[in-house]
Amino acid sequence: MSSTNDPIPTFKELERRGWHERAPQYDGGAGRMTRSAATQLLDAVGARAPMELLDVCCGPGYNAGGAAARGCTATGVDLAPAMVGEATRRFPRATFHVGDAEALDFANASFDAVICGFGILHLPEPEKAIAEAFRVLRPGGRYAWTVWCGPDRAQLSGIAQRAIEALADLTVPMPLAPPRELFSDPDAARSALEAAGFGDVRSEELPLMWRGDAPADIWDWYDRGTVRTAALLNLQSPEVRERIKAAMIKDAARFATSDGVLVPNHESCTSPVSRSRRRCRRRRSLWRSIPDQVLRRPRRMPSPPGDPFRTNLG
Ligand SMILES: C[S@@+](CC[C@H](N)C(=O)[O-])C[C@H]1O[C@@H](n2cnc3c(N)ncnc32)[C@H](O)[C@@H]1O
Repeated sequence: MSSTNDPIPTFKELERRGWHERAPQYDGGAGRMTRSAATQLLDAVGARAPMELLDVCCGPGYNAGGAAARGCTATGVDLAPAMVGEATRRFPRATFHVGDAEALDFANASFDAVICGFGILHLPEPEKAIAEAFRVLRPGGRYAWTVWCGPDRAQLSGIAQRAIEALADLTVPMPLAPPRELFSDPDAARSALEAAGFGDVRSEELPLMWRGDAPADIWDWYDRGTVRTAALLNLQSPEVRERIKAAMIKDAARFATSDGVLVPNHESCTSPVSRSRRRCRRRRSLWRSIPDQVLRRPRRMPSPPGDPFRTNLG
């Protein structure tokens, strides 16, 4: 358990450090599900030779690697150096750099397509990443991201969310961050993208399945394979952690079959076109039409004044 006296890292630093540490085990954990969405992302932007494609939050490089295999000039960017190392080792036909999705180190209009697989939900200021994708895309270029659906469709998230909301101490010192499922709602995604100058926004759900050998595997998945949730769990007292663990395992047991534990965990792919070089509107207007229930309020920690998009939930 981390000490509650440790200084609270920024959300960006928590993510950078967490994914850097988890990079070697990612392929056998989260990557088992996320890499199944690569074809959908690449098809959404029409990836083909000789397009120049940028994979933001590339992790171990599945999407950039897939683009390079289709004949694109593919570049990947990730904040975690060890992820960039994994990607470079796995996919030598693509080029990978350490970089920040919210401040891309590329010239305006330098890519035909930008993709982001399960990355936008890990950013402290996703509106900046949307504006950056818009900036580096050539007019008419496509952007596409994948996110997990809400907890009713992505039931792996539902299992953790139920246990955490019922049992966790949410006053532990977590950095505030946007709700993880901010863009699980296609209408919220559309609002943010249109406010940034994108048009022709399409969203499509893809059924994915989490597989475990036993219900207890779900605990390892969250404890070792996530960053934000693992940090929240790590700050709980040993007794509370055990109670959350037991609740999650009991909930996961509902999904046990003769073929193992199969938990539906659907994702949503959203893909807009960069229409014009119109400047991004002010951040406040970006979020104005996002429904209140998506901007979930933390249970005990109020959002800072003027900042309704941040939560301390894991
Ligand atoms: C869940 S992983 C997704 C990796 C990969 N795209 C996939 O589909 O498997 C999220 C990735 O986002 C990266 N990330 C988090 N914050 C970032 C930022 N500000 N800029 C770039 N990458 C970031 C993490 O290091 C991590 O590799």
